[in-house]
Amino acid sequence: MCGIVGYLGPLDPKEVIITGLKKLEYRGYDSAGVAILHDGKTKQIRALGKLKSLEDKLSSEKFNGRLGIGHTRWATHGAPSERNAHPHQVGDISLVHNGIIENFEEIREELLKQGAKINSDTDSELVAHLICIENKKTKNLLTAVQNILPRLVGAFSIVVFSEDQPEEIVAFKDGPPLVVGILPDQLFVASDVQALLPYTQNFVYLDDREIVHIQKNKFTVFGPKGKAVNKEIVELNWSPELTEKQGYAHYMLKEIYEQPRAVAQALEPHLDVSQFCVKLKKLGFGTTSTQQLESLNSAEDWKKTQEVFKQTERVFIIACGTSYYAAMIGKYLLESLAKIPVEIDIASEFRYRSPVIPKNTLVLTISQSGETADTLAALRLAKSNGATALSLCNVRNSSIDREAHGHLYMNCGPEIGVASTKAFISTLALLNALSVAWGRIKGALTEAQEQEHVKALLAVPSQLEVVLSYDKYFAQAADRLKEFKGFLYMGRGLQYPIAMEGALKLKELAYMHAEGYAAGEMKHGPLALIDDRMAIVMLAPSDQWYEKTISNLEEARARGGHVISIGTGDNEKLKRVSLYYLSLPKSHWTTSMLLSVVPLQLMAYHLADNLGYDVDQPRNLAKSVTVE
Ligand code: F6R
Repeated sequence: MCGIVGYLGPLDPKEVIITGLKKLEYRGYDSAGVAILHDGKTKQIRALGKLKSLEDKLSSEKFNGRLGIGHTRWATHGAPSERNAHPHQVGDISLVHNGIIENFEEIREELLKQGAKINSDTDSELVAHLICIENKKTKNLLTAVQNILPRLVGAFSIVVFSEDQPEEIVAFKDGPPLVVGILPDQLFVASDVQALLPYTQNFVYLDDREIVHIQKNKFTVFGPKGKAVNKEIVELNWSPELTEKQGYAHYMLKEIYEQPRAVAQALEPHLDVSQFCVKLKKLGFGTTSTQQLESLNSAEDWKKTQEVFKQTERVFIIACGTSYYAAMIGKYLLESLAKIPVEIDIASEFRYRSPVIPKNTLVLTISQSGETADTLAALRLAKSNGATALSLCNVRNSSIDREAHGHLYMNCGPEIGVASTKAFISTLALLNALSVAWGRIKGALTEAQEQEHVKALLAVPSQLEVVLSYDKYFAQAADRLKEFKGFLYMGRGLQYPIAMEGALKLKELAYMHAEGYAAGEMKHGPLALIDDRMAIVMLAPSDQWYEKTISNLEEARARGGHVISIGTGDNEKLKRVSLYYLSLPKSHWTTSMLLSVVPLQLMAYHLADNLGYDVDQPRNLAKSVTVE
C-alpha cells in the first residue's frame, strides 16, 4: 500500500526519488518523505498530505550525495502526520517500510525499557531502532538487518541505509512487493516497476524472505537461508508514457476511455478471428519462469491447458472488491457456458473459513495488482490443499502471477486510478472467453455456439465506443443524482454484480451511501428504504431477466423511488417510467454487462468530480492492498 523508492548512483537522488514516488502515489497519499545523503550526513525531509507538499518543501533543497530513499504512506499504525511519515531516522539508520509488524507492541515495550527515544506512533520506527542497535554492534548493515529479521512478525518490506556505510542499501521483502531496477552504473529499488520505468527496463523481482544488498555497481540477493541466490533479470518493454494522463483530467477518466482498447488487447492473444474460436494462449501450466513462459510452444501449451480443464471437476474463484464482482460474473458464465460447478469467495473470508477443497479443483484468483494480500494468501492456501492455481491478473511478475501454475493476463496496461475500471472490463472479457473455451473442451458448447460467442465478444470494443459517446448524458444524470440521500443499484443475472460494482464506485468516489442488490431481493428488506429521496439505478438491458427486472422497477416506483434506468436501444417503456433513461447498444446477453458498467463508472466519476473530490485518489483508500 505504501510506495517505496531507493536509489544509489550518479544522478540526483532527489529527482530519481520524486519521479518514482509520483508514479507510486496511487499506493498511499497521506504523507511522504525522503532521506538523502548530503555532505556524508542524512537529510530527512517529510511532509503531511500529498506528494505535492513534499515537493514544495524540497524545491529549495540541494543534495550532493549518491544515495537516498523515499516513501509515500498509507497509514496503518499511527495517524497521518509528519512525525509518522517515513523515512524514520534512528542514529545513522534511515528506513522506509510497507506493511505491518504484528508484534510491534512487544518490541516497543522492550525498546522503551532499554531507554530508546521513540518519536512516532508507527511500527516502522521500531524496526529502525532494532537495526540501529545491531548496526552499532556489527558495523555491517547487511548483517544488522539479517540479525533482526527473526524478531519481526508480519508481512512487510523494508528499505534501509546507514550514514556510516554510504554506498549501500539493504532491502528485505516478505509480503509487499519490491523490485530492483538495474543499470550498469546505478541501482534502484521500488515497490513497483512503474516508479523506475523512466530510468530502466531491467528488473529483478524479489521473492518473499529475500534480502537484496545493493552496493556501488553491484547487487546480491540472499535467500531465506542467507545464501546468495541467482535471480532472473526480466526485461520489460514498457513505455513510460503508459503511466501518463495523456491530456485527460484524471487517470480514471483516461482509463474509462481506454476500455474499448483494453477489451481488444485482453482478447487479442486468445481469439482466432478467422475461425471465430477461442484458443487460450500461453497459460503456461507447468512452467516456472518468465523466460519459459515467453518461449512456450503454443500448440503444446494449448494441449496442456485442455488437459487441465478436462480433469477439473470444480472451480473456486477468489478475489476482493471489484475483482470479486468480476468473480460473481465468472460464476454465471462458467456455469452457463461450461457447465462446471463454481464457488466464489471473497479472499479474506475464504482464507479463514476452513474451505473444503476437493480433488481436481482449480482455483482462479482475480487481481488487477497481483499483490492483494488476502488473495495471495487464499491462493497459497488453495495450492497447499492440492488445487491447481490459475491467476487472472494485470501485473506480470506480481506475487500472485509468480505463484500461480497458470496465467491469464488482463493486458490493459497500468491502471493508476485507485478505483478499478479498465481492469474490471478486461477481466469480464477474459472470463467470457475462458468460459467459451472451457465449454468447448467439456463439450457443453457446439462449434456454432462458440462462433456466436466469439462474434459477440469481437463486437464489444466498438459497442463500448458507442457507450462512451453518450458520456454527456451520463454527466447530466450524475448532476441530478446529487439531490438524493441514498442509492439502490439493482439488476438480475449478470447485471446483479454490475449493480454491486456501480454502488461501490459511487461509495468510493463520491462518498455517498449506495447499495447494490439483486433486484429480486428488494422485497425482502430494502424496499423499506424507498421514499422520494431514494434513487434507484436499475440495470434492465433486453435479456432473459428483463421482464422480471421491470416488475421490480415498478415495485420501487410504487413506493415513490426515482428511477434511473439503463436499458437497450430506444426503450419507450423505460423512458416513460424513469427520471433518466440511459441507452446501451444492442448486445449479446453474455456481453451486455461489459457495456452497462460504463454509465455507472462515468456517473460516479462526474458526480465525485462535481463535488470537488479527488477521483484518482479517494480518501482513505489506496491501490494494491498489501495488508490483510
Ligand atoms: C475498487 C477497487 C478495489 C479492488 C480490490 C482488489 O474500485 O479497485 O475494490 O478491486 O482492492 O484489488 P486487486 O484486483 O488488485 O486484487
